[in-house]
Amino acid sequence: MSGRSIVSIRDFPREEIEFVIGKALEVKQGRHADALQGKVLATLFFEASTRTRLSFEAAMVSMGGRVIGFADANVSSAKKGESLSDTVRTVCGYCDVMVIRHPVEGAARRAAEVSGVPVLNAGDGANQHPTQTFLDLVTIQQECGQIDGLRIGMLGDLKYGRTVHSLAIALSLFKDVEMVFISPPSLRMPEDTLEDLVARGIHFQEHREIDELTRPLDVLYVTRIQKERFADLLEYERVAGAYRVGPKSLEHLGEKVRVMHPLPRVDEISEQMDSLPNAIYFRQAHNGIPTRQALLGLVTGRIQ
Ligand code: NCD
Repeated sequence: MSGRSIVSIRDFPREEIEFVIGKALEVKQGRHADALQGKVLATLFFEASTRTRLSFEAAMVSMGGRVIGFADANVSSAKKGESLSDTVRTVCGYCDVMVIRHPVEGAARRAAEVSGVPVLNAGDGANQHPTQTFLDLVTIQQECGQIDGLRIGMLGDLKYGRTVHSLAIALSLFKDVEMVFISPPSLRMPEDTLEDLVARGIHFQEHREIDELTRPLDVLYVTRIQKERFADLLEYERVAGAYRVGPKSLEHLGEKVRVMHPLPRVDEISEQMDSLPNAIYFRQAHNGIPTRQALLGLVTGRIQ
């Protein structure tokens, strides 16, 4: 994977996804220490971030690399009217690998086309968030021991949530995975993703509420309503607070369900869940480090 950009999870066949998961687990066991010695990462964040940016930074620094970048577009030359392409053409001369988060769908693809170094997509609008998907899969593999054959629910804003778009496509590559999409009708999984799943022969169901479920889930992946993507704030207010997962939800989800969330959480998972063994969302967030260490190592050619 040396020299390669990571723009969309659609660019990865199952074997490569499993290869990355394997490398992340190796890193987690302490292998590949200092693999990024002398390498420089540039972080270009045109949208808010806590976990993605800081875990990329921590991943780089803890393996001996260094980080430059900005966390706010207002302090970059975008504020003066510079195009993303010009920013990327310039910054690729300052670093060995670049991470970009941008509100426009397709921004990471455009950046990868003009960059002389690998570009890692840290979220492009409502489109994709492939490095999150890798860490989600590492988490599922570790917590469930497998990905094949699982029954996985996704709850919340399936329309604008980029994490669930990437995750559904990745899961479709695994064997006998059953997907259950639960959302208010106005926030359903986009039609083109559903059509894609049908074409891949995937079994999925759609529901409006958790209490419509008749069988337990292995995993429930909860997402926040993506307020910033609504053109009309009234439309957001109509769905705000439409769902909330708490200890009582386990009646419908099954006592063994693992509850995941890419975070940040607003009010869709009650804090009462946090102390239950079902809650794995903070361990999931911590898997961002070994997963991103592995990805940085692979694209810079330091991990093979
Ligand atoms: C997600 C994102 O930015 O898409 N956050 C993350 O990277 N962990 C989810 C979200 O913002 O709701």
